[in-house]
Amino acid sequence: MYDLNELKDICNNCYKCELCKKRHNVVFGEGNKNADIMFIGEGPGRNEDLTGRPFVGKAGQLLDKMLKSIDLKREDIYIANIVKCRPDNNRNPNGDEIKACLPYLRWQVKIINPKIIYLLGSVASKVIIRDDFRITKERGNIIKKGDLYIIPSYHPAALLRDESKKRPAFMDLKKLRNLYDELNRGD
Ligand code: URA
Ligand code: SF4
Repeated sequence: MYDLNELKDICNNCYKCELCKKRHNVVFGEGNKNADIMFIGEGPGRNEDLTGRPFVGKAGQLLDKMLKSIDLKREDIYIANIVKCRPDNNRNPNGDEIKACLPYLRWQVKIINPKIIYLLGSVASKVIIRDDFRITKERGNIIKKGDLYIIPSYHPAALLRDESKKRPAFMDLKKLRNLYDELNRGD
């Protein structure tokens, strides 16, 4: 089994889908390698593509605030995306791109072995949970897969577009915090 650095090297040299053509950097993901909580977004935006780091633009700044609201820091968690190279004009990644990239994310999840995966937005939720997942109706429902808990919620970019989503998003974050505390009491 590869370790995280080996997997990162593989991804940095990946040309499996069209997204490799325009990227400046592969955004592998980063954070605490022993994290109990993994956040999964959609794909790199412009700032992420330029820096090679996930969630460093406007949505990332909001994500930091969201974490702070439940007393978590970047160093406590691990963050990755469904695709590791930027879809141009911030369009959604297409089926071929997702299919090409998803094995890396699955690998990464196996290595990190989180207790909870927090899905940011509709694209990540559809890919990881079900193709017909409805974010507005089903967000905040905790899903259990074996020992792993999955919590789907809004993407921070959606909260920037629509203030009314902030309150439900905060409820989901509180659920995350409570579940995290509960699981760690059992350790
Ligand atoms: N949006 C995402 O989904 N991922 C990032 O890394 C940045 C913005
Ligand atoms: Fe490879 Fe994923 Fe980048 Fe496509 S998005 S080139 S599969 S690393």
